[in-house]
This record gives sequence, structure tokens and C-alpha cells, in this order.
Amino acid sequence: MKPYLKLDPWNIVEEDFQPHLHEISESIFSIGNGYMGQRANFEESYSGPSLQGSYMAGVYYPDKTRVGWWKNGYPEYFAKVLNSTNWIGIDIAVDGQPLDLASCKVTDFTRVLNMKEGTLSRAFTAEFEGGKKIRVDAIRFVSMARQEIGAIRYAVTPLNFDGILTVTPYLDGDVQNRDANYDEKFWVEVAKEFGERDAALTVKTKKLDFHLTSVMAFEVAKNGEAVKLETEQVEKEKYVGFRAQIEAAANEQVVVYKYAANVTSRDHGLGQLIEAGRAALRSALEAGFETLYREQVQAWADKWRDSDIVIEGDVAAQQAIRFNIFQLNQTYTGEDDRLNIGPKGFTGEKYGGSTYWDTEAYCLPFYLSTADSSIARNLLIYRYKHLEKAKENARKLGFAKGALYPMVTMNGEECHNEWEITFEEIHRNGAIAYAIYNYVNYTGDIDYLGQYGLEVLAEISRFWEERVNYVAAKDQYMMLGVTGPNEYENNVNNNWYTNRIAAWTLEYTLEVLDYLRENEPSRYRELIDKLELTEAETSKWKDIIAKMYYPFDDERQIFLQQDGFLDKDLTPVKELDPVHLPLNQNWSWDRILRSAYIKQADVLQGLFFLGDRYDLETKKRNFDFYEPLTVHESSLSPCVHSIIACELGYREKAYEMYLRTSRLDLDNYNNDTEDGCHITSMAGTWMSVVYGFGGLKVQDGVLRLNPFNPGHWTSFSFKVMFRGSRLKVTVGEHDVIVANESETAAEVSVYGKKHTVHGLSHVKIEHALQG
Ligand code: BGC
Repeated sequence: MKPYLKLDPWNIVEEDFQPHLHEISESIFSIGNGYMGQRANFEESYSGPSLQGSYMAGVYYPDKTRVGWWKNGYPEYFAKVLNSTNWIGIDIAVDGQPLDLASCKVTDFTRVLNMKEGTLSRAFTAEFEGGKKIRVDAIRFVSMARQEIGAIRYAVTPLNFDGILTVTPYLDGDVQNRDANYDEKFWVEVAKEFGERDAALTVKTKKLDFHLTSVMAFEVAKNGEAVKLETEQVEKEKYVGFRAQIEAAANEQVVVYKYAANVTSRDHGLGQLIEAGRAALRSALEAGFETLYREQVQAWADKWRDSDIVIEGDVAAQQAIRFNIFQLNQTYTGEDDRLNIGPKGFTGEKYGGSTYWDTEAYCLPFYLSTADSSIARNLLIYRYKHLEKAKENARKLGFAKGALYPMVTMNGEECHNEWEITFEEIHRNGAIAYAIYNYVNYTGDIDYLGQYGLEVLAEISRFWEERVNYVAAKDQYMMLGVTGPNEYENNVNNNWYTNRIAAWTLEYTLEVLDYLRENEPSRYRELIDKLELTEAETSKWKDIIAKMYYPFDDERQIFLQQDGFLDKDLTPVKELDPVHLPLNQNWSWDRILRSAYIKQADVLQGLFFLGDRYDLETKKRNFDFYEPLTVHESSLSPCVHSIIACELGYREKAYEMYLRTSRLDLDNYNNDTEDGCHITSMAGTWMSVVYGFGGLKVQDGVLRLNPFNPGHWTSFSFKVMFRGSRLKVTVGEHDVIVANESETAAEVSVYGKKHTVHGLSHVKIEHALQG
């Protein structure tokens, strides 16, 4: 697809309304605040193709599994993020003619996502049949400062006539999910209520009884003066609204302010929902649009203060990285440990908005470095709270002990139903263990291990203990019938990454046990009792670590992705006729599985996670072998390759991979942006800048940087929070500046040399020292 969005450092700008691109734009221009989110659907009715999407975090539907052949162990349902009450709707009619951009002539159209301020605006001129023209200027946001509130300012100006505008702001709960397995509607009406100034709609899900109450109010101003209008109540099934008419002469601007509060039974008792919604709405109305807007600007200024990346000299790269950071910040804000990060966030339905290993493997580093550590901690607590369900899942699959976390979940239960993923893609357990290490290593919050960490680690270790099998003839442990991160191989034996992350989990769990025994003896005893952990188990873990089998090729001195990998045809991707790519759209699944082509980092994922344990030569040999076979058909792939390429000094490759990840959605690389944006891979993009070009690592409690300028930028800078300090690292043409924007001093190592950066001061290091 030809890129159609204008380049701008802070805004995503679309000029010209192109209906065939509208669903892509609906994804890209989505707005959210961690609590709720909204695709960039129009406020007024639109009869053209559109994917309506208004989502409430944590509100989902257990849609009955649909599968050809049932296999024992499959989950009963697939959890769907729910398209919920449309609270943005404002129908407009001009002298009785409805405004619908699918039927009007549209000119001077612009749609702008202002990432600095967190607003979505749209302006256009619409000409109706018969020649009447109006100008519309609309802006809306979901408030970062008041999570339940959304606000819209919608201005209409007749351009060439005096007439009557009819405005109908409404709430409509009669909505559907496009991906519903049985075309079913998931919401039923509970109540409708009209107050003096507001209208409320309560709906509930057919299963699980999630209740959502939306309350709305509106105000109208003409030429800057508030006007009091006669309103008519409009009521339908799952629908409430107000209709009002206003006379407007040519060039008189009529502004409709619409405010909505959305509250759910996740946070309020059923009997309190309407009052909670009304209270939130009242306070928003008292504040008024301008105050809400100022709060929004301030809340986003705070987010950018902590997470911005500035790239000088390359506006496409600047826009892209800000877009990635913006989406991450509006998807997860971290106050609520029941929430997580869906691969599409609030931008679409695909992947059900559920939690995947993406969170631990890709997203955690972003939140660790750009927000208070309590936010990343909440991501860990989320899994801690699901431990019992993960144990149940392991029992369901026939394991006597241990925990197998789900590949896809909303509430801790597995809801993915393809056998090769549900039952076999067990490496996800390793990522959950690794996240605990990553968090403690980064933050120094070692108390976490005794409080929550060990229980999760021990149960995951028990799972690995039972999942491996001992082959007496070889005196080695093997792991058969798995799917590694590379989903273009199924049911393989001894996926190197899975074997490695399993053994690593056992090692780390033993290390944590030693630490607790020595440093927190009473908590250690308590936990041993609670877990009923025996000496026999820990000895077995040691034996598995010592005798784990790792497929290896002596000739090439590389780790083998799995047994038998070298028997495949190893023709590199670049020698394939490009008509075959992407493989997943051109080849049968059978052909993909037989080929050597790799969907996403697999062996390299292991070398990334456990980077400290492998020398550069090992990384180089494996990268040189696997990169040419990798098709990067998962959005999660290029970032890992980019980071390792940086470490190896393959700068061009690193930059090529970076570009592929950073503008994935803006340029619709994979031809699927209309389904929603690839939110979790956006954290990978962030890692490619900070871990890749910035060379950031935390070792022995020291933040280490090994930055270089990829050569296309005048300079770039990024922010990282580290153990109480907030640092801004600027990589220029000749030097690196580490500025401490906080009052807490920080120890950093740049190119291998330690520096103390005192509060509110900086250090400057010449590039000549580059390692
Ligand atoms: C990837 C998985 C990932 C999922 C959700 C798949 O295409 O192969 O690794 O967890 O997408 O992002």
C-alpha cells in the first residue's frame, strides 16, 4: 500500500477522505487511556465500511469455542474483548438531510491524531444532495486524568444557507463483535434512565454478567454563547439519546459538547453503577470541556516527560517511534493489576484483547524503564494472581504438579484452541519466569522474590520437571512435541529455545531459593511449607540442568532450532522469488511447516534473553545462520534481530530491522492494520532503540549503555527511569550525554566506564570511547 499519512513529528495526519482506507485509519487513529479505548469511528452515522470499536479494559466475553475437531483439553471458550456501548455517537441532520460521509461530497478533509496532547480531531466540508454545504470541526479524547470520562467538541457551520440543524447525541449498546464465533450479540439491556440533564444506559453481557453503565450529557453553544434548547428524549432497545433542533444562519457556528462516563461492574457494585456514572459525569460537566482538555494535555505531558524518544534529522523515524510510545501509553497505564496488554490493545478485535507471552517477553521492558516500578510490578502480580488457574491448566492437561500458564487468557484460564499452540507452545512459561528475573534485576526490588516471585518460579519449575523426559540410553533430558516461538514449526523435538529457557528457569529458581534461605530464613521456611517443596524435587532440578540436551551442529558451531533442522532445504529467503512472500498468504500451511523458514526469532530469542551467557562469536554464528532464513511474519520478530544486530555491529541490518518494526502499522506493511494495530510489537520497537542503538543493559545493579548512532540521524535521545532517577540519554554525532533530570544520583556505565551522574546534572562522553 502506498503510504498515505503525512509525516510530522508529533501528529499523525490524514488528508483527503479515502473510504477504502477508512478502516485502516480507524485503527491508527484510535485513542485510549488504559481503562477504555475507541477506534477512530465517526461521531455521526456512517454507512460505508467501518469496524465499530469501543472497548472497556477487562470486560470480555467467553465466546463458545468453534473448532472443526474437538480435542480433549481444549478450552470451552475464546475470550473476546467486547465491542461495547457506542458513547461517541452524535447524529447530525441539516434541514432533515442526515450527514453521512458515505453519501455526501467530502472536501478539505483532515484527520489528526495529536500524540502530544492525546486528542483525535477531524475537519471537513460536506456537501449534501441539493448543494447545501457545512463545515465540521470535531475533536475528542478519552481522559487520562479521569479514566471513566470521554469528551467531544463537535462544531457545525452552515456555509451557504440558513437552516435547521438537528443534533442527536446518543448512547447505543446494540453493538456487535465482527469476530463473534456464532454471529451473536453479546450485550442485553438492563436499564435506561433519563435525568434532567443526562441519559443513562446500562447493559450487561449475556455471560459473566459484566455490567456497563454509560451516562451522557450534552451542551450546545452558538457563536460562542451557550444556548438552552428544547430536547426530545429518544429511546430504543439498548439506546438512549436526546434530539434537539437549532436554527443556524450561514457562517454561524453551532458547537455540541458531549460528555460521557462509562463505569463497569469491575469497579462498582451493581446497585451503585448509575450513581457512580452520574457522579463522574457531573464532575466532568462542572469542569467543562476546556478544563478537561487542559488536564488531558498535562497528563500526556507527564507521560512524554518520562517516555519520549527524540530523533533529530529523520521525521519518518521520529513520527514512528512516537506513535509506538503513544499507543503503549494509552493501552496500559498500570494502576490496575487485573489488567494487561492485548496484542491489539484498544484498536481492534483480533487476538481478543487477551494476554499473551508478548507482555513478559516484549512489553515489560518498556514499562520498567518509562514508568514507576509499581507499574511493571503490577504486570507480574497479574500472573501471580493467576497461579492457581495455571496449576489447574496443568492438571487439565494431565500433569500431576506444576503450573502451565495459558498462551492466551483474560482471567488466567487458557482460551486458545489450536493444539499446536495451546498444548505445545509451552515456552510461554519460561517468559513468565524470565520476567521475574528481569524485573528484579532492573529495579533491585529483591523483596519481590519472597513476596510473590518464588511461588510462581517453583510451580513453573515443577512443570518443566514433569514435561521433560529422561532418555536413559543417552543419560540426557529431552523435551518432545513442542512448538517454539517460531510458529512455522509444530510438534518438534528439542526446540533449543524451549529446552534452554526451561533449564534456565530451574537454575534461577534454585538461585532464588538459595537467596531466600540465606537472607530471609523465616519467609523461606514458610514458602517451603506452603509449596511442600522437597529435597528430591530440587535435586531433580539440578540433574535436569546438568543433563539437558541441546541440539547443536558441530560443523557450524550453532545451536539447532530443533532436532533435524539441518535436514531441511536451507535456501535463504533472499533467494526466494518475492512473489512467495509473505509465506503465510501464499503457501499452504503444510509447505510452510516443511520449509526452513522462520516466522520469528527463536534461537535468537534465547540469545537475546540470556545474552550475558553467550559470547559475541556465538551470537554472530547463530545470527549469520538464522537471520537469512527468517521471514519476520510475526511483528514481534524484527526487533530482536535488530537488537542482536546492534550488538554484533551489523548496523545496516539493525537499521533495516528497526524500520520494519517502527512503521509497521503506519505504513501497513503486513496489510492487516484495519484489524487493529500491533501494540505489543510496539514495545519491541522501543527496545530496538533503547536496547539496540542505546545498548542498554542492567548488570550487577548498574545501568550500562553502549550507544551508537545508526548513521541516519543527527542525534537521538531516550528517557529511562532507573532506581529512583530519571535519565535522558542523548546520542549525538560525537558524544553521548547522560543527563539526570531527577534529584537522585545514578551510577551508569558508558562504553564500559562507570560514571556517577548527580541529581540535575549530566556527564558527557566522547564517541571515541565506543565499545
Ligand atoms: C506470534 C506469537 C504472539 C502472537 C500475539 C503470533 O503471530 O507468533 O508469538 O504471541 O502473535 O502477538
